[in-house]
Amino acid sequence: MLYQIYPRSFLDSDGDGVGDLEGVRARLDHLRWLGVDGVWLSPIYRSPMADFGYDVSDHCAIDPVFGDMEDFDRLLGEAHAGGLRVLLDWVPNHTSDRHPWFVESRSSREAAKRDWYFWRDGRDGKPPNNWRAAFGGRAWTWDDATDQWYLHLFLPEQPDLNWAHPGVVESMHGVLRFWLDRGVDGFRADVVHLIGKDPTLPDQPGALAEIDLVGVQDHPSAHPLLRGIRSVLDSYAGDRVMVGEVNLGTPAQLVPYYGAGDELHMVFNFSLLWASWDASQWAQRIAESEAALASSHDAWPVWVLSNHDTPRHRTRYGGDAGRARVAATVLLTLRGTPFLYAGEELGLLDADVPEAARVDPGRRDGCRAPIPWDDTAGHGWRGEPWLPWPPEVDERDAASLRADEGSILHLYRRLLAARRRSAALHAGTWKLLDAPAGVLAYEREAGSDKRQVWANFGEEPVLCRADGQWVVDVGSREWDGRLGGTDAVVLRPAG
Ligand code: NOJ
Repeated sequence: MLYQIYPRSFLDSDGDGVGDLEGVRARLDHLRWLGVDGVWLSPIYRSPMADFGYDVSDHCAIDPVFGDMEDFDRLLGEAHAGGLRVLLDWVPNHTSDRHPWFVESRSSREAAKRDWYFWRDGRDGKPPNNWRAAFGGRAWTWDDATDQWYLHLFLPEQPDLNWAHPGVVESMHGVLRFWLDRGVDGFRADVVHLIGKDPTLPDQPGALAEIDLVGVQDHPSAHPLLRGIRSVLDSYAGDRVMVGEVNLGTPAQLVPYYGAGDELHMVFNFSLLWASWDASQWAQRIAESEAALASSHDAWPVWVLSNHDTPRHRTRYGGDAGRARVAATVLLTLRGTPFLYAGEELGLLDADVPEAARVDPGRRDGCRAPIPWDDTAGHGWRGEPWLPWPPEVDERDAASLRADEGSILHLYRRLLAARRRSAALHAGTWKLLDAPAGVLAYEREAGSDKRQVWANFGEEPVLCRADGQWVVDVGSREWDGRLGGTDAVVLRPAG
């Protein structure tokens, strides 16, 4: 299981109100106690922070707000010593507009790096095509200096790199090597499908002209680029891994991004993150994902319910704490690698962020609220955090939940331990079981190892199957076939 840390929101150690690398290092014990295998750090590189680090101005330097390279090396060393892997966030589709590459590119039409980005003339004073940008507005910005438009699928401060240029490929491979040489275990690759672009940059047809390209761009030119990226990772000793963010709509569309086992090692599958609180919808999406991924090269699934871009899942499910427990039970009993988003193990809700305190161009502030570590006034933070605390902050801090065996934090820990000791749970086959309406039930099997999971999405107790052959592996009481409203249980064969 991998654990996403949004460093700004994890823990501030120096009093500026923004989380930092020392803050992460200080809480490695929490991660080890929980049973985490590795962490993914959202961007920590030097950045003007227009998109809070997803606008990189120096890929090989730590932004001072997070610390320095010494802090990073210390964190990496201690994580490794404690058996934790470290994945960085690699942002290949775009850079900051302050990156020296873009500064040079925009300096003149003849600049050596002009074609490292997309510069085009307009059409009768209008942008070169009808593409929209992810945070609103068009995907082109006019630049007076050279009288041309440049492309940005996100903010104007995030110009898109042109991966058709060999210099871009070589330099971005160099960035990977820089960090692999330092000892990182791999990367989460930000919107990596977007690096494959149709070189003619055609208009989006029909209704697609109304939306941005992030969820629809699926061009074959991404695949040779991904094979090149994979060969960089493969040239290193040890298990180095690349997990890609590919925001396409269906699991079947993700499969090509694994290549023939020679592109991404793993691809985020957001189908449960996008699902509503509905057992039959979850069943259908898990079945569809299993079928799609098993169809080709035995692609290894990645499951996720929350991240720094979406309201936290407990918030999405209406705030019900029981639902968060049921969701955790399902998330941690599926085949593949689950990703947790820091704070979900505390059952955190999104912060209610007043308009005046909002800072994110994508309005994602709520899910980025600071993590409360203890029940003191500052909850472990040295400075006043950059965003407001989440609701229930006085009871949902890590120390208080750790002291309570019945808390959601302990449930996550028990589920992770159960997952580790059962091959059926982490790697076995998945078979949907017949279940009453509102209940998601499935069996997992690997050789002689078997588990069943029963998850009641409804509020009423239900009678499930009870044949005396199963006992509770993770759950609150003995198994007699009855499941309470909004409750879930992991079973193992009796005897
Ligand atoms: C996806 C990241 O998860 C998101 O936070 C960011 O704004 C965009 N990519 C642009 O890098």
